[in-house]
Amino acid sequence: MSRKKTAILISGRGSNMGALISAAMSPDYPAEIALVLSNRPDAKGLERAAEFGIQTAVVDHKDYAGDREAFERSVDAVLKDHKIELVALAGFMRILTPYLVNAWAGRMINIHPALLPSFKGLATHERALQEGVKLHGATVHYVSAEMDDGPIIVQGAVPVLDTDTPDTLAARVLEVEHKIYPKALSMVASGTARVSGTRVTGSSDSAGTETLIWP
Ligand code: GRF
Repeated sequence: MSRKKTAILISGRGSNMGALISAAMSPDYPAEIALVLSNRPDAKGLERAAEFGIQTAVVDHKDYAGDREAFERSVDAVLKDHKIELVALAGFMRILTPYLVNAWAGRMINIHPALLPSFKGLATHERALQEGVKLHGATVHYVSAEMDDGPIIVQGAVPVLDTDTPDTLAARVLEVEHKIYPKALSMVASGTARVSGTRVTGSSDSAGTETLIWP
């Protein structure tokens, strides 16, 4: 089996990165984590990746004085240098331009801490509590031109409890993130996930338990 060479793009602590790296340690996992790239030189996840023996790279967005596309050209060049086939965004805190989105269309996925299409953008847990929703969660989706949009691959749901604060809710969602991201990357890398219009099909399981984790 040829494993798809995958890069993980991070900006921070990299706990989802850690979950993907752990999953990819299994020899029958269809993706190999070949690179961790950060736009921030001080991202904690870089140390963690290096501890796992994974190659790391930094493309500091501050060196590009607001020229997002120039920044993305450099990111793209590093990805190409490493012969990367798939990109997984994991807490990569840059808004992407059509340049990178188009260059990696169908080969770039992201994790968002909410049940999309609800709560796009930041502060998802605060907003979920404010809206009083009873169900919250996380989504892995293909990246498209619009932020936090694109065909949904896997979702994980958690209950919202009366006693929740944004932090306790975030912690519960993060646990489910660490389950759904390895699942989604596996489906994409193995070619099981198929995009058909705005939907992703190809779950091997007709009950849907593969692409939806729920309480
Ligand atoms: C996660 O909540 C992810 O869903 C969001 O940013 C956070 C990154 O956390 N996009 P980590 O760096 O993976 O720990």
